[in-house]
Amino acid sequence: MSDEGKVISFINMKGGVGKTTLTKEIGYHLATVKNLKVLLVDVDPQINLTQSVFRKFGFAPSESIAHSMEKSEETGSYRNIKVTKASIQNILNGNISNQNPTSDYTKAIVDIPNTNLSIIPDEFGLDFTNRNLNGGQLENGLYNFIYKNNLKNKFDYILIDCPPTYSSYTISALKPSDYYIIPVRPEAYSILGVNMLEEVIKQIKNENEVYFRDRSLRNLGIILSGVKENARKGIENLIEDIVSSSVLKDNNIEIFKNRFLYNPSLQSNMAYFITDGRAEKISKPNLNDLTNELLSRIKHMEGEKNE
Ligand SMILES: Nc1ncnc2c1ncn2[C@@H]1O[C@H](COP(=O)(O)OP(=O)(O)OP(=O)(O)O)[C@@H](O)[C@H]1O
Ligand SMILES: [Mg+2]
Repeated sequence: MSDEGKVISFINMKGGVGKTTLTKEIGYHLATVKNLKVLLVDVDPQINLTQSVFRKFGFAPSESIAHSMEKSEETGSYRNIKVTKASIQNILNGNISNQNPTSDYTKAIVDIPNTNLSIIPDEFGLDFTNRNLNGGQLENGLYNFIYKNNLKNKFDYILIDCPPTYSSYTISALKPSDYYIIPVRPEAYSILGVNMLEEVIKQIKNENEVYFRDRSLRNLGIILSGVKENARKGIENLIEDIVSSSVLKDNNIEIFKNRFLYNPSLQSNMAYFITDGRAEKISKPNLNDLTNELLSRIKHMEGEKNE
């Protein structure tokens, strides 16, 4: 396996399937338990990933938000919320020169103190896809930033949380990605979403052939998410339908053996991270198994590539 860091997008055109939650939980587990250098990237204007990380580690995008966070009961334990102007928008709107590594880094990346974790945050409501902006910059910005700043040598894993839409944001996330993972909730039409995603990815690969000539964008598999340990028969039947569907066979998509188990704490508190949960007798080993499976899949696929 090459020592270069790997870029992985968590993507599904369907909303609410666990993209953000898996990005943050797997990322934080890799950084803390596995002691690897991890960069999280938020390319979703809903900024759920940014909010989770900012709340947990005491960051805010402005003085006024910092002030209200300091006063809020939820984050009452914080004393000094740190204000950061770092944002992926600086990358996507051409605000970064790619010539001054130090200032470029701080315009985009927040290193979380005393951890192996960093994040490129997004800003709320800034959806440049609707503006008359240079599409090339938007779609190539993240790719250029990662390569020009040598981020694959600085980080072991770069995990990108994608929006549930097909836009320039999706393309900007997939261009630098080595792999993508599809979180899927077992529901009636889940497989249609996977089919649509595969079509979109084929199209993106076709239209951006030069980017994927030397390193292909490969599907690491589906992670079934939010499934209870002893799921009802109906849910197991839905999963069976997904497992046996022709979409998976035709596209050579595998399903992770480990499912991401249902955990209600994730819903009630956005600053909750399983790895730091006190009484996580089921979810902690589950996250560990899931992450190990992810690492071994990558190792396997890297081996195949070098054969
Ligand atoms: N394993 C889980 N157990 C319980 N709840 C979960 C689990 N994973 C995610 N959730 C909850 O489900 C909701 C949707 O999850 P999440 O935000 O990760 O999905 P998403 O795919 O990123 O959504 P979007 O498409 O809107 O970006 C959130 O409220 C989250 O807390
Ligand atoms: Mg999300």
